[in-house]
Amino acid sequence: MERIQIRPLKTLEEFRACERLQLEVWGSLAVGAELLSVTQKYGGAVLGAVARGRVVGFIYAFLARRHGRLIHWSHMMAVEEGFRDRGLGLRMKLAHRRRALAQGLRSIMWTYDPLQSRNAALNLGRLGARVVEFIPNCYGRFPSAIERGLESDRFVVDWRIASRAVARRLREGPPRNSAGGRWPVVNETRRDAQGFLVNARLDLNLRAPRLRVEIPASTDAMRAQELPLARRWRLESRRIFQHYLAAGYRVADFLPPSDETGGKCFYIVRRE
Ligand SMILES: CC(C)(COP(=O)(O)OP(=O)(O)OC[C@H]1O[C@@H](n2cnc3c(N)ncnc32)[C@H](O)[C@@H]1OP(=O)(O)O)[C@@H](O)C(=O)NCCC(=O)NCCS
Repeated sequence: MERIQIRPLKTLEEFRACERLQLEVWGSLAVGAELLSVTQKYGGAVLGAVARGRVVGFIYAFLARRHGRLIHWSHMMAVEEGFRDRGLGLRMKLAHRRRALAQGLRSIMWTYDPLQSRNAALNLGRLGARVVEFIPNCYGRFPSAIERGLESDRFVVDWRIASRAVARRLREGPPRNSAGGRWPVVNETRRDAQGFLVNARLDLNLRAPRLRVEIPASTDAMRAQELPLARRWRLESRRIFQHYLAAGYRVADFLPPSDETGGKCFYIVRRE
């Protein structure tokens, strides 16, 4: 298999390649080459996945402050479509962790869409980041190709890169279904005529110490073919998370789709 290098990006040409990737992945440009280059020089991080001299993925993070402490805010990560699911996202995050630790930082934060199961699998399952906030319609109606027509709900995650819990998660890998298979499910689901996952019933009266919340294993086709259903998922998942977070639960982990789960995937929410 082709060798792909993960390294800090340096040249204007490489930063221009990040602009191209943004246009391909989101359909709009958020951060231009000039800003990428100054961020790289003055305390932030711009890391790339480079295949034969071509940038096929990047992370962009700037220095920020939270609760009085310096952190990296990782505003963007993208991998070119044909290079996904080969561990490049994970490798870039691990390289970012090493670099941030070397800079004396203890935390990297970012937001992601709770209905993007690939991101959930990587952020919570693999990396052991913690969800610290849920923000409905965080960026308004995002001008992004990924979310066109949807409100931009986001989880804010805090990846405590120096913590023992994160070191353990990186060593041991994502949780197994056996760890969560028995907990009650908040949303009963079924398939509609097109085969898309639909919520059949929501239960907002559960009180078990841990609960599961199912999300679709992918919403790409749903967003393209059944936008009203994708909107319904947006609103129903918002209702679930807002309700249970207000009731004292926190989003604790993510079970990726597997044979054990019958291809389903679940957030695990835990009462604090
Ligand atoms: C998010 C993104 C950067 C991940 O990059 P990647 O190189 O594909 O990531 P990895 O291969 O390291 O990890 C993906 C994980 O998701 C898993 N996965 C793939 N499809 C999945 C699905 N439908 N549901 C759940 N998990 C899934 C993979 O198996 C892998 O987990 P594993 O390593 O435990 O097997 C890439 O998908 C992307 O560019 N997405 C569009 C932009 C975006 O959403 N950016 C992040 C927010 S700013």
